[in-house]
Amino acid sequence: MYSEKVMDHFNNPRNVGEIENPSGVGTVGNAKCGDIMRMYFDIDENGIIQDVKFKTFGCGAAIATSSMATELVKGKTVNEALEVTNKAVMEALDGLPPVKVHCSLLAEEAIHAALWDYAQKKGITIDGLKEPVDDIEERIGDEEE
Ligand code: FES
Repeated sequence: MYSEKVMDHFNNPRNVGEIENPSGVGTVGNAKCGDIMRMYFDIDENGIIQDVKFKTFGCGAAIATSSMATELVKGKTVNEALEVTNKAVMEALDGLPPVKVHCSLLAEEAIHAALWDYAQKKGITIDGLKEPVDDIEERIGDEEE
């Protein structure tokens, strides 16, 4: 049911932990399943994401998607990180079962929430970044059943 990559990132998640004094931190949850994901970004003065850490209290797919999402945004610019959508994360993991698609949305939203916090702290606007929601159920819409 799960790809080898999902199992690998679930069993050996990359970038687990916290960053002290992060440039941006974002927490999102899904009230329906009760899962919560928090992402910490360390962004340098050129807007490059030097380090990323995450903490996920959630299902295996949420852990695998957060792990893959951190790998995908590390070393990228803030604008490039915005292109790391839940679909990009799922593709990098060789897919997820349909009932687990919402778990990858949690990862996308956690990236956005951390970037939003960074932008707020810096007093800047990031083109294309929408204010994050606390509960991704509000944004799931027709992505899932
Ligand atoms: Fe909710 Fe996976 S079951 S994030």
